[in-house]
Amino acid sequence: MKLIVTGAAGFIGSCFVRMMLSEGMAAKAVVVDSLTYAGNLENLTPVAGHPGFTFEHANICDEARMLALFEAERPDAVVHFAAESHVDRSIHSPAPVIQTNFVGTFSLLEAARRAGVPRFVHISTDEVYGSIPEPFDADENYPVRASSPYSASKAGSDLLALSYFTTYKMNVSVTRASNNYGPYQFPEKLIPLMISNALEDKPLPVYGDGRQVRDWLFVEDHCRAIYTVLQNGRPGEVYNIGGNCSLPNLDVIHRILKATGKPESLITWVQDRPGHDRRYALTNEKLSRETGWAPRMDFDYGLAMTVDWYKNNQGWVERVKSGEYHKFYDLNYANRAT
Ligand code: NAD
Ligand code: TYD
Repeated sequence: MKLIVTGAAGFIGSCFVRMMLSEGMAAKAVVVDSLTYAGNLENLTPVAGHPGFTFEHANICDEARMLALFEAERPDAVVHFAAESHVDRSIHSPAPVIQTNFVGTFSLLEAARRAGVPRFVHISTDEVYGSIPEPFDADENYPVRASSPYSASKAGSDLLALSYFTTYKMNVSVTRASNNYGPYQFPEKLIPLMISNALEDKPLPVYGDGRQVRDWLFVEDHCRAIYTVLQNGRPGEVYNIGGNCSLPNLDVIHRILKATGKPESLITWVQDRPGHDRRYALTNEKLSRETGWAPRMDFDYGLAMTVDWYKNNQGWVERVKSGEYHKFYDLNYANRAT
């Protein structure tokens, strides 16, 4: 199978490509990434020498370039991860979020339609459902009530993707996953930020009362679910992907302090995020029933592995935080980028 994978220099997409190539699930993967602050080719080093790996340094909003690429490569499928993925950044600076997440998805769908790409999987988020009151868990028919520019841009792109099934009969499926954690996550999201701050004895900023609830999904479980949807998901359908692990933020932070051996005094209460969703919770029942997929990772074990990874890769953390990887990889990958 030959895949075009957008945004795979980032956290989840890079895990997906490492898994697809190293486990032989795909023979070829063409990674399309514009290398924003969140994109780092170092994340793909384990497969950079694989004969099926190629990198296309491009912006997904460039529809002519995407069309030319799809026509030249004739992939079996496009798996679309590329996004501005951080809620806080979307609040401070919504324009690039709308541009990449909505316009960029439109550009890819249009290029895929015109090139006749046989399969398109659009990677989305449970955040499109907005805050979910107890005791409900969102299934795929739960109303879309996005709260932030990030989640609204993802909700819009989901609807656009589904419209390409309804209108053009394109073979599109949409996945909506809960909060991911694991190695190679940019240290701006809750878990990697708290781990890297704790390791450096820096304050851990808790928004509001810290009692907001998120469902935690190990990134490899997510990538296996995406592969399952790619292969067996039905066209025009949405699939929730959750970790069956709902926890208040403060509980997660206490576990990180325990795993890093750091004191509670690092916890610092800060102003709440505007429009902060109180609770995300979703059910995987549809994906499990249709394909047998279920999350495998135990949260404490996955968190311990993640803490170890950040401990052992502090150079990576420093490089992504300082932006040095841009300079470093511009040199090393100059001949790969087009
Ligand atoms: P990330 O921020 O780590 O990576 C995003 C990647 O997209 C980066 O490599 C970046 O360079 C690239 N990119 C951004 N704009 C681009 C553009 N215009 N053209 C080409 N490439 C561009 O994100 P992530 O956490 O790996 O998330 C991947 C996908 O999964 C996103 O669509 C996100 O909405 C979704 N998702 C994430 C989570 C999570 O917890 N992180 C949960 C559910 C869904
Ligand atoms: P985040 O990782 O940004 O993911 P999302 O907002 O997409 O769920 O945040 C997860 C939760 O952690 C969310 O309730 C906000 C909270 N949070 C903090 O309390 N402090 C922080 O420094 C960050 C980044 C997040």
